[in-house]
Order: sequence, then C-alpha cells, then structure tokens
Amino acid sequence: MTTVYLNGEFVALEEARVPVMDRGFLFGDGVYEVIPVYGRQPFRLRQHLARLQSSLDGIRLANPHSAVEWENLIGQIIERAEWRDQGVYLQITRGPGPRDHAFPKTVQPTVFILPMPLGSPSSEAIENGVSAMTATDNRWLRCDLKVTSLLPNVLLRQLSIDADCAETVLIRDGQLIEGSASSVFIVLDGILLAPPESNLMLPGITYDVVLELAASEGMRHEIRPIPETELRRAEEVWITSSTREVIAVTRLDGQVVGSGRPGPVFRQMYACYQTFKRTVMRGNTAP
Ligand code: PDD
Repeated sequence: MTTVYLNGEFVALEEARVPVMDRGFLFGDGVYEVIPVYGRQPFRLRQHLARLQSSLDGIRLANPHSAVEWENLIGQIIERAEWRDQGVYLQITRGPGPRDHAFPKTVQPTVFILPMPLGSPSSEAIENGVSAMTATDNRWLRCDLKVTSLLPNVLLRQLSIDADCAETVLIRDGQLIEGSASSVFIVLDGILLAPPESNLMLPGITYDVVLELAASEGMRHEIRPIPETELRRAEEVWITSSTREVIAVTRLDGQVVGSGRPGPVFRQMYACYQTFKRTVMRGNTAP
C-alpha cells in the first residue's frame, strides 16, 4: 500500500481525494518538485526546497510550510514507502475556488506528496546510450518555474515517445535549451558545455551537481549559449535529471553522435556521479 500526504493527513493513495474545483485541476495552477531518494536519504533536499520556493514566488503563492516542516513531511513519506530508492513527488496548488482566472480571495492551498519508485535508467541505457530527437521549443517564457501546467512539455515528450526516442531536445531561436524533462549538456572539442540558466530553462538540480563535479574533477567545462550547429557536431550529448541522473545520447535525429557510444567524458562523469551519491549516502559530505 502506498501512503501519500494530502492536506495534513497521511492516507492510502486510493483514498486520497481532491475537489474537482481545485485550481490544479481547472487551470494547472500549481508547482511541483521531484526529489530523488537513495537508501531512504533525500538527495539535495535543501536545493529542491529552495527551487520550490522560487517556483512559489514565481506564481505568487505563499509557501504553506517552513523548510523544517517540509523535511519532516518528506521524511515521513520516505519512511512509509516500500522502496529504499524513491522519487518523492510533491505538488502545491492554489487550492479550490470558483472557476475564475482571478486568484480566490482566500487561498487554501492543496499540498500533496507522493512517493514513487525511482525509475533509474537501465544498465542498457547507461552502457549504450539512448536516442533523442530535436524539436522547436514552443513553451512559455517562464520555463525556470517548475509548474504543474506541463501540457507543452507533455506534447513535446510524446513526440520522442512516438519516435521511439528517450527524450526531445528543445531548440529555441537556434540555441540548445534543455530536454522536455531534462537538462542537456554537450562535449565539443573535449570541453563540457552547458547552456546558461535563464528564464527559458529549468535550473536543474542535477545540472548543478554535474557542474560542481566537473569543477572538482578539474574537467574542462564552460557555461555558455550553445548554437544548434554545435549540438549537431558535438562529440557527446548528455541528458540529466533527478530521476535519470546522467545518460549519454548516442543518436540524435537518427544521426550517430560522436563514435555512437557513450564517450570518455560521459564515462568519467557517470563514475563521479555514482561515487558522489555513495559518499552522500554514507553521510560523509553535505547532500
Ligand atoms: N524533470 N528541465 C525540465 C523541463 C525538467 O522537467 C527537469 C526535471 C529538468 C532536470 O531538473 P532536475 O535535475 O532538477 O531533475 C530540466 C522532472 C524529473 C520531472 O518533471 O519529472
């Protein structure tokens, strides 16, 4: 049985109910986070809660809980779940109200926390890489907010599912932005390149981990705009996210990327990431 948290109570998932007039249902008026948990230890929780705060500020919704309260609620969800490794999904909506675009006079936010099995990438995906396709980024101009109104991302992601690809890589005005549900890195002339954070992309927590590891390992890296032309001639392309960690893209739009195998920079980063995770889980370093 999966236990979820809904508005002050821990209940069985099957029992959890939200009113149909909830603005999350009517307008997608809410924000969310996905926090990876390894061995029942949340990974980068402080950073996820900080991003949650930015998303709430961005949609002008007061945070219903302090950081300590969130840590406590998330901790309880993790303990009650059946999996040691999990992805904790949490969502806050502007709650129920009349079907009117204007914010309700009194807001009673809906708070929902759901544990999910962590869909870590298969060993086949890590060993051989995955296929991806590109598409024009047709989302709004606040992609830095992690909002539940994900219809553009859903439609963009479905394009790659239909094409039997693992991700849709988004291009806006000739620049690489991110994936439909991931951040994207490339390796060009041996240098790891990351697009700069802006209102057009989500500030990925895994993106930050990867850049921190690149710095601590002395890997050559740069944060700068990446034209589509560079994406197309990259030696390596990676996607990163809390659930997929780091995966190499070995085919892009049907073309082989680099050697067609996960490259040496990817292998180095993948190994660092796994070591870092294990160190964090042993409590030897700040998560
Ligand atoms: N998605 N960009 C987008 C559009 C995303 O949806 C995600 C994550 C990322 C990577 O962010 P992070 O490293 O913090 O997970 C980048 C989550 C996993 C999701 O929507 O399920």
